[in-house]
This record gives sequence, C-alpha cells and structure tokens, in this order.
Amino acid sequence: MTRAHPHIARMSPYTLAELNAPKGKPLISLSQNESLRPPSPTAVEVAARALGSSMLYPDPDWTDLRHALSDLHRIDAAGILCGSGSLDLIGGLARVFSGPARAVLAPAHAYPFFRTAAQLADARFDTAQEVDAVVNVDALLAAVKPDTGIVFVANPGNPTGTRIPKSDLIRLRQGLRPDILLVIDEAYGEFADHLDERCFDLVQEGNTVVLRTFSKAYGMAGFRVGWGLFPPAIAAELRKVMNPNNIPASAQIAAAAAVRDDAYMRETCAMTATLRDRASAKLEQAGFAPYPSFTNFLLLNMGSPGAAASADKRLRSQGIFLRPQGGAGLPHTLRMTVGAPTAMDKAITTLNQWKKEDQA
Ligand SMILES: Cc1ncc(COP(=O)(O)O)c(C=O)c1O
Repeated sequence: MTRAHPHIARMSPYTLAELNAPKGKPLISLSQNESLRPPSPTAVEVAARALGSSMLYPDPDWTDLRHALSDLHRIDAAGILCGSGSLDLIGGLARVFSGPARAVLAPAHAYPFFRTAAQLADARFDTAQEVDAVVNVDALLAAVKPDTGIVFVANPGNPTGTRIPKSDLIRLRQGLRPDILLVIDEAYGEFADHLDERCFDLVQEGNTVVLRTFSKAYGMAGFRVGWGLFPPAIAAELRKVMNPNNIPASAQIAAAAAVRDDAYMRETCAMTATLRDRASAKLEQAGFAPYPSFTNFLLLNMGSPGAAASADKRLRSQGIFLRPQGGAGLPHTLRMTVGAPTAMDKAITTLNQWKKEDQA
C-alpha cells in the first residue's frame, strides 16, 4: 500500500467550525470570524466582470493588487507576496523555515493553524505561557531553544482578541537570535490600525515578516486572498514552494478594488467596534467576562470547561454556533464573532437563559 510520510500520517486534519443546525432551526454562525458586512460593492462588481476572462491564467505576480497595497500602506510593492488566504503563506513559511531540525515557537493560546503548519513541516511545536490570554514577550524569549527556527505571533491574537503594543514586538525581535524568523500575523490588524502602530517597518530588519488578510475587515473570506510584506531573501525562498497561479483573477481584481475603497473597510471596522463593544458590555453585565478585544470577535470566559461545554450545547440546540476554544488551550471559553445585531442578541439571550436555568 502507498504510505504517507510518517509525520503526515500521524497528523489529524485541521478542524474548521462544525455547522449543523438542528432540523427546523435556521443556522446562526458566529463561529468563523467572518465579517458582518459583504465586500465593497465595487469589489463585487469588478470581480463579476472579470469572470468572463476565466479562460486565462491569473497574473502570477498579483501586480495590480501589490501596487494598490503599496500605495495604501506606503510600503515597497517588491516586498509583497500574496497567498490563497494567509493560511497559504503561514504554511509555506513553516515548510521553508522550519523542519525536523528547526522548531516552531508560538504563544500558548496562539492561532491553532500555527501548530498545523509546524506538523506539516515535521517541526516540533513549542509554546510559551501567556498572562490573562495576552502574549508575554519574556515567556517567549525564555522558551527559545537552540533549534528554534520560527516564532509566530498573531497580533491581535486569535482566539484571544488581545494585543501587545508595537514596543513589545520590537523588544521580542531584539531579544531573538538574528537567524530566527519572526512572523507577525496581523489577520485582524485593520481593526487596530486606528492605534497607529503598524509594524511594516520591522520587515527592514531582514528576518521579520508581517502578514495580513482580506478575510476579516475586508469581508472577503470567500475570495481567499492573504498577503504579507517580506524581506527579499525570505520572499525568494517562499515563492519556490508556492503555487505559481494561486489567486484567481477575479479575486485579485476584487481585492485591489477593495484596497482602493479604503473608506468602506474603515466603516466596516467602525461598525464592528461599535457592535462589539455594545455586546461586550451586555455580556459583562450578564457575568460572562469577555476578554478585551481588538478584533471582530469576543472571547467569553464561561468560568469552567464544563460550563463552556454546557453553554455551547444549549446554543447549538438553538442553531447558534460560537466556537469552543479547547484546541487553543482555553477550554473555559467560547469565542463569539461580531455578527448581525439580531444574531448577537439571540446568542446573548440564549446564554442568559442557559445561565438562569442550568447554572441556578
Ligand atoms: C490569526 C489568523 N491568521 C490567519 C488566518 C487565516 O486567514 P485566511 O487564510 O482566511 O487569510 C486566520 C483566520 O481566521 C486567523 O485568525
């Protein structure tokens, strides 16, 4: 029988949200951190028009999209690579810069795909404690081993929603050996851009990468477009393992149009923050102690793993899906995406009923 590589055979597939509403109940998904708003109307319009040219391969260099991003962020277009979602870039970086002799390090409650990426590369996955679900630079530096090859930090984090200031990331970079690649994953970066702490300048060091995505603030998860700013030597190696035609033309065109419609994306971020903070206050009052969030989701502290599982069961019975976070080492929590106000209200009402009846 044909056998997979032993490190692949040992792995479990990456698990996405389970979304099966009970018969007769409409599905309410607040589980995948998708945007509450569709993409910019201009992006949808140009993408639809581009479909008619689908007999052609897409631009392998994402030229127009790179220039749009370069103009918006005032960064060098030559340093930008685009992926089929940022998952593509995370997986590629792990394949190129980690392996059996080069371990991956991440915070204890990091985005679970960092672990999967390490497993795909047959690399050991080490973690460093966080304090109150906030990345701790001292713990990360103390967890560095002689064979550490990559440090992944999502900022803001998922599933925590918390963030560390840029000064901490600078301190982390300065404390890491120069041969260690630091990957700063800013999938939720747009929700914190008003703080004026963009990290693109850290890439100049030559051993730091910043990743972003169109899946969150731009509301384009279905288009599968992620991107990053890379030092030239890192980009050259990463491109070797990437699918040379990785993003459909319609998705590239849509993403470039979305970048040029910055006002729409900023409006989405503002709407999300308003709804998030309103929901957070209601949840706080109801005793669910949400962690501070700089993203489009809230992490609820349910008090214990048993309570989180019981509340999750009740929500599911009503067709409402939040995301339990045992996989990220936070079994006492549930993560709630900021969605439509009616969906959020239904979830909060159900949580309140559960608390009254099951926790009485
Ligand atoms: C921290 C983080 N990084 C990366 C991703 C992957 O996003 P995508 O592949 O859709 O760009 C996600 C998605 O939830 C995320 O939360």
